[in-house]
Amino acid sequence: MKKLRILVLHGPNLNMLGTREPGHYGNKTLAEIMCNMEVLADSLDIEISSFQSNHEGALVDRIQQAASESVDGIVINPAAYTHTSIALRDALLATALPFIEVHLSNIHQRESFRHHSMLADAAVGVIAGFGPDSYLLALRGLNDLLRK
Ligand code: DQA
Repeated sequence: MKKLRILVLHGPNLNMLGTREPGHYGNKTLAEIMCNMEVLADSLDIEISSFQSNHEGALVDRIQQAASESVDGIVINPAAYTHTSIALRDALLATALPFIEVHLSNIHQRESFRHHSMLADAAVGVIAGFGPDSYLLALRGLNDLLRK
């Protein structure tokens, strides 16, 4: 089986997971979520690299870098930038890599300003509302898509 390379990106405030609004985001830290992803990635023969930033430009830079790293696809939780960032959208389109948009919470059950995503129509899929499992579902989905 060919080894796939997947970049996992986390937007602003996701470094606070574990203590941040547990009613919406649960009790797992980002490190624990990534640990579970690593286990799944190993079983699927995927090499993952991950990056979290609270800064839009840093996320844009990391996406641009992915294009020169033979990354096969991206899993991204853009967090609040989901709802505002044309820059992230443009960066993802510029790489032309398939990406899955992930949210821990079901953004459609929340405030109306969270219902719109600047990225979703360009994503191969969107997974929201499964807590930390949203990331695992995204990894499985991207794996299936890339191996078809
Ligand atoms: C989020 C949902 C966003 O609306 C919010 O700004 C986040 C996290 C989620 O994972 O549910 O920071 O992306």
